[in-house]
Amino acid sequence: MGSNKWGRTEVSFEKPRFDPGFVSALRDARHVCVLTGAGISAESGVPTFRDAQQGLWAKYDPHQLATPEAFEENPELLWRWYRWRRDLVAEANPNPGHLALAQLAELVPRLTLVTQNVDGLHQRAGSRGVIEFHGNLFDDRCYAEGCIIVHDQQAEVPVCPNCGANLRPGVVWFGEAIPENALNESFAAAADCDIFLSIGTSSFVYPAAGLADIASENRAIVAEINPNPTQHAATYDFAIAGNAGVALPKLLESIAT
Ligand code: APR
Repeated sequence: MGSNKWGRTEVSFEKPRFDPGFVSALRDARHVCVLTGAGISAESGVPTFRDAQQGLWAKYDPHQLATPEAFEENPELLWRWYRWRRDLVAEANPNPGHLALAQLAELVPRLTLVTQNVDGLHQRAGSRGVIEFHGNLFDDRCYAEGCIIVHDQQAEVPVCPNCGANLRPGVVWFGEAIPENALNESFAAAADCDIFLSIGTSSFVYPAAGLADIASENRAIVAEINPNPTQHAATYDFAIAGNAGVALPKLLESIAT
């Protein structure tokens, strides 16, 4: 990995020691903005989107199960898939990585947590004000009007009690817009923060992957935590090669001492 603008290279998690410059910057931070992806929930046993394509579901391409077109064509199939994922997530619990982020919010003046995950595990770990970039797996939305509907229907494809359209899971599918509030709030936080942490995301999917660039353009320190450094790692200020569930609690210890 090449050097970065701080003239430092990767902080290997094999040595459980973080770069002192990074630790003191975090200690002094005014506003920390965190972006998380599927990797932070991996240690809770929630498979990533692509890994979830197992067993019964292995024969489907992710696009077949996550687009409006797929839903229009076969809403029964999509509901079976999302119910399967809901059951899986309902059995999972937040891990030390989620818990450490909730604690970090208590240690810094301001923390904005943006997640691409739809599993709600940050909220269950105690994080507040989480910006859900890709929606929530457990919401049901009217396919015609987009509003969240609370209901107790058992039908294979539930319908909107107001307009009769099908209900759909409240996640953002490929080709769909990110909820406007989530987009505006996260862009503003990335532009305002002095530290940006990218955790457990491959950073392939935009616009979420662009948040680190916004932070960097606004002179924030950018770091990632990922056991497999991403294609962006060389351009970030720090790359911590480790699992979030181990690295984050250790990082918390480092800033507290
Ligand atoms: N700790 C931290 N990172 C981890 C861990 C871990 N324990 N385990 C795996 N990772 C990393 C992987 O190395 C990978 O870089 O997490 C990343 C997961 O990448 P993706 O599966 O691509 O997930 P994500 O970046 O969240 O995907 C973004 O794409 O599939 C769509 O809409 C879906 O929200 C998702 C978006």
